[in-house]
This record gives sequence, structure tokens and C-alpha cells, in this order.
Amino acid sequence: MNQRPRRNRKSESIRKMVQETNLSVNDFIYPLFIVDGANIKEEISSMPNVFRWSLDLMLKEIESCVNLGINSFVLFPAVDDSLKDKVASYSFQKENFYLKAISKIKTEFPSICLMSDVAMDPYSSDGHDGLVENGKILNDDTLPILSNMSVAQAQAGIDIIGPSDMMDGRIGHIRESLDNAGYENTSIMSYTAKYASAFYGPFRDALDSAPKEGDKKTYQMNPANKKEALIEAELDVLEGADFLMVKPALCYLDIIHQLKNSFETPISAYNVSGEYAMVHAASKNGWLDYNDTFQEALLSIKRAGADVILTYFAKDFAKLNR
Ligand code: PBG
Repeated sequence: MNQRPRRNRKSESIRKMVQETNLSVNDFIYPLFIVDGANIKEEISSMPNVFRWSLDLMLKEIESCVNLGINSFVLFPAVDDSLKDKVASYSFQKENFYLKAISKIKTEFPSICLMSDVAMDPYSSDGHDGLVENGKILNDDTLPILSNMSVAQAQAGIDIIGPSDMMDGRIGHIRESLDNAGYENTSIMSYTAKYASAFYGPFRDALDSAPKEGDKKTYQMNPANKKEALIEAELDVLEGADFLMVKPALCYLDIIHQLKNSFETPISAYNVSGEYAMVHAASKNGWLDYNDTFQEALLSIKRAGADVILTYFAKDFAKLNR
């Protein structure tokens, strides 16, 4: 035999030398959930070790993450039901605790990269990402609401706007509104290929944001479709997105790969709540090894082509790889 591929696997040193994909803490954006109030740290039952934090304790949490080398975060608000309405008006009100938290976090940690969520669902009494009328999600009437939310977040000092709503034309609408308001340096990471997935369940528990009626299939993509992701990506690039995201990650590695091969724009992937919950559940039962499993999953996402990974595993990765 002239070729013996096993020769390149014979020792740890050689295996490391020929390793094609390497993970670094710089690859990750760590999601954090914030609630109004003080001294609150509530665990989300379907997401072990993930908490809803009040701002005071969140600042300490961010500090501990920064000490572990994590420099990028995405912030999601858990909003009290009493503040929700049909038009998500709380999302851009001056006294909004989420906007105040963005300002405070960026003042305390000016060098971190902070990303937001833009969609109506955390603030909507209907629990949908867009405006609901007679059971239908209105596309064009949702756009100004998303833009108002985005400009308010830019004003608060956010680094990257994260539209997760899947309305048509929202990247262009938001880009133009940001530019008109003088925020031409605020970036947009578009949730480009966001699928109507069953893997978001734990996240909706975290924010109490599940749709009150119906599902999200008229705006989120059909898990059966691949070409459609290219259509979404072409539009997002034309409309001004700085990053293209695929979500979820693990069942959609082919989509990540496809976008990576077709576009020069950085590709991100959201390793979502259900993917996190599965690894925890199986390891709690002694069926899978937690550390090995989650690191293999993250590696597969990067190998598929993701430049950036939003993941609840970021802190555990940082602790293991200090
Ligand atoms: C909603 C939003 C969702 C997630 C991020 N933003 C859920 C949904 O679309 O219902 C899911 C993230 C996760 O599951 O970790 N705009």
C-alpha cells in the first residue's frame, strides 16, 4: 500500500498538525436573556445553566465571560405580559429596560461586541414576529415597526442589529432607516435562512414568546427547502446585510455550506436552544458525554462553513479551553 491514511493519525502531535478545522472562543457569540428588575437570576427549565438575568447580575456575568475570553454577546429581552400589545410599541419606548441595558452594558464594556434581536415576538400580545390582522401576518406594515426598533437599539449603542423576523424587505428597510438616522456604522446580521423549526421550543419558554395562535410557517422557511436559502441570501446581500445567518445550525449544515460557497459575506449559524437542550438531556441521562458531544457539534458547524456561531455552549467551551 502506497497510501496509508492512518499514518497521519498515528499520534496526537500529527493529528493536531493536520487538523483542518479549529475552534476558538473568537468564533462565538454568547446569547444572554435579560429581565427587568434587580437581583434576578432564574434558570430556564428547558435550558440547564442558562438564566434570565436582571441587569445588575448580568453585568457581573458579562465580566466573568470577558475574563474567559468571550467578547461577543447577543441580548434577548423577556418582557412582562402587561407591556405587550398588538404593535410591539414597548420595543422602541424610551424607558424600555432592554434599551437601557444595551446602553449600560456598552458603557461598562465598550470593547465588547453586542448584538440585538429585532422581531416583534418578545413584545407582541400575539406572540408573532410581525403584525397580526385577522389571523394573517402583515409584511409591509411590520417593516416600520422593525425599523423603529432598530433605530432605538442603534441609538442605545448596539454594535450589530439582528433581525430574526423573516419579513420580506426588512434588511433594506432597516438599513435605510439606520442610515437616515445617522447610524451608517451600525451593522446588520440578517437571520437569512431561518427555518420554521421545532428546535426553538426552549427559547420560547425562556421568553414566553410562543405564538398565541397558529405557527410561523408563513414567514419562516420550510425545512425541506434549500434553493430558497439562496434567494433569501441574494436579497439580503443586495439590501445591505453584513452577515448572513443560517438557523438552526445542526440540521442545516448543508445550508451553511451552500451559503459559504456562494457568498463572500461572512456566514453565521445559530446553534439554537433545542440543540442545546438535547445535548444536556442526553448527557444528564448518561447517554452522551457532554463535553465531547457539544464540542463535536460546534466543530461540525464550523467545518460546514460558519465563520461565526451563536451558541449557548460558548461559556462551557471557554472554560474547557482556557
Ligand atoms: C424570535 C427568535 C427565536 C429565536 C431567536 N429569535 C424563536 C422563534 O423564531 O420563534 C430562537 C433561538 C433559539 O431557539 O435558541 N424572533
